[in-house]
Amino acid sequence: MFAAYFDRPGGPENLYMKEVVKPDPGEGEVLVRVFASALNRADLLQRTGKYPPPKGASGILGLEAAGSVAELGPGCSGRWKVGDAVMALLPGGGQAQFVTVPEGLLMPVPKDMTYTQAAAIPEAWLAAFQLLHFVGKVQEGERVLIHAGASGVGMAAIQLVRLAKAIPIVTAGTQEKLEATAKAGAAAGFNHKKEDFSKKVLEFTQVQGAAGESLHRGGAAPFFPRGLPTSPAPRGQRLRAAGHRQGPQ
Ligand SMILES: NC(=O)c1ccc[n+]([C@@H]2O[C@H](COP(=O)([O-])OP(=O)(O)OC[C@H]3O[C@@H](n4cnc5c(N)ncnc54)[C@H](OP(=O)(O)O)[C@@H]3O)[C@@H](O)[C@H]2O)c1
Repeated sequence: MFAAYFDRPGGPENLYMKEVVKPDPGEGEVLVRVFASALNRADLLQRTGKYPPPKGASGILGLEAAGSVAELGPGCSGRWKVGDAVMALLPGGGQAQFVTVPEGLLMPVPKDMTYTQAAAIPEAWLAAFQLLHFVGKVQEGERVLIHAGASGVGMAAIQLVRLAKAIPIVTAGTQEKLEATAKAGAAAGFNHKKEDFSKKVLEFTQVQGAAGESLHRGGAAPFFPRGLPTSPAPRGQRLRAAGHRQGPQ
């Protein structure tokens, strides 16, 4: 089979199509014929040598993919049959013609969704969904502040907040990004490089109070150089951290 491959870390110019060994589905695994894969921030980091794949995982890029079931490994339960349309979150290997996935990690592609759309769901969209609904328990009418609003996860979060009938407010680093977030449904957006987003959000929401619960520990995070803000997470509200570009603070 062919896979997107690179021999040394670097830019996209290092990528080429390489013929590699097609994987065999092991016990309880399914072989998926890949029709579409996504390009995640983590793929870009891996390509530049800054995000090695987990031990034992494929060195081929691709953290998510959609396609059809091509073959069932030994011991599969019967949940899937050859030809089923599936998508999956992967430790790697999605940017190839075939990838093996433990059968329990496959998800069906909804009927009205294309493979290209489905390939973008398992990583960024489910990360945003998990954060908003399982962790944040977002409710209708709530205001949700999304940092890095124009990021992959941020753009998904804006649309999911709207679907939950809540109100997305974003920060981003450029005007162009703010415009993109507005098109995606952001009710308000602030440039964190040019203005005090904390004050602006307070003005927008007209809510006052002390900062609420936080997952930030051990010092101020890059977004909060002067400590936690007093407005975006007023008392009784929730502040959740989805990821950290500059370490765990
Ligand atoms: N990608 C995923 O599937 C996934 C899954 C789980 C968690 N996460 C987490 O979700 C967040 C967004 O991820 P993403 O992959 O969607 O991001 P992305 O598309 O690569 O966008 C990252 C954006 O974050 C902002 N940013 C703020 N501080 C930064 C810093 N120190 N270094 C780099 N970027 C910085 C920048 O936007 P502005 O300048 O406009 O603010 C940047 O464009 C990250 O914290 C990531 O760890 C991602």
